[in-house]
Amino acid sequence: MSITDWSVRRLHAVSEAEIEGLADVLLDCVEGGASVSFMHPLTRGRAVEFWRRVAHGVSAGERALLVAEDGQGLCGTVQLIFDLPENQPHRADLVKMLVHRRARRKSLGTALMRAAETTARECGKTLLVLDAVTGGDGARLYERLGWVRVGDIPGYALMPRGGLCSTTVFYRNLVSNA
Ligand SMILES: CC(C)(COP(=O)(O)OP(=O)(O)OC[C@H]1O[C@@H](n2cnc3c(N)ncnc32)[C@H](O)[C@@H]1OP(=O)(O)O)[C@@H](O)C(=O)NCCC(=O)NCCS
Repeated sequence: MSITDWSVRRLHAVSEAEIEGLADVLLDCVEGGASVSFMHPLTRGRAVEFWRRVAHGVSAGERALLVAEDGQGLCGTVQLIFDLPENQPHRADLVKMLVHRRARRKSLGTALMRAAETTARECGKTLLVLDAVTGGDGARLYERLGWVRVGDIPGYALMPRGGLCSTTVFYRNLVSNA
C-alpha cells in the first residue's frame, strides 16, 4: 500500500458507523497485546461503550478526536484531552494513539502525531503530555518525533494479558518545539 492509500482527519461529531470502526481498531490493538487501559479479552460492547463516551466528549468540546482511514475503513486514531483543571488551559493530554495492525509501519502513527500537534496548536495549546509503555512501539515513535522523555514509573499498569509494565512520561513544548 502506498502512502496515498490513507488519510487523516479530525472528527467534530462521531457517527454510529465511526464508533463501530473505532471499536474495531481498539479491539484489534488489545487483541494484539497493546496496553491501552483495557484487559484482554475486551468485548465489542465495552469497546463501543468507550467510544460512545469519547463521542460525547467530542461533542462537548472536551476532547479532539483524529482518525485515519484506509480502503477498508477506520484504521487509526488519537485524541487530545482538553478537559483539564482550570490552571492548565494551555495544555492537553495526548491519549489513545491506536493503529490497526493491518496499517502499521506505514508512517500512519507518525502522521496522526503530526496532525494531533497541529490540532493542538490550532486550539491554542502550547504543551502536550502523554505516557507510554516503556520501550514500546509508542515510546519509540514519540522519541523519534522529538518528544522529551521525563522518566519511567515502574509497575504502572497491567499488560492486557497480565503482568505489570513500566510507563514512560513524555512532553512536547509546542512553542519551543522541545
Ligand atoms: C505505536 C503505534 C501507534 C505506531 O503506529 P505506526 O503506524 O506503526 O507508526 P509508524 O509507521 O509511524 O512507525 C512505526 C515503525 O514503522 C517504521 N516505518 C514507517 N514507515 C515505514 C515504511 N514505509 N516502511 C518500513 N517501515 C516504516 C517506522 O520507522 C517505525 O519504526 P520503529 O519500529 O523502528 O520505531 C502502533 O504500533 C500501535 O497502534 N500500537 C498499539 C497501540 C499502542 O501501543 N499505542 C501507543 C499507546 S502510548
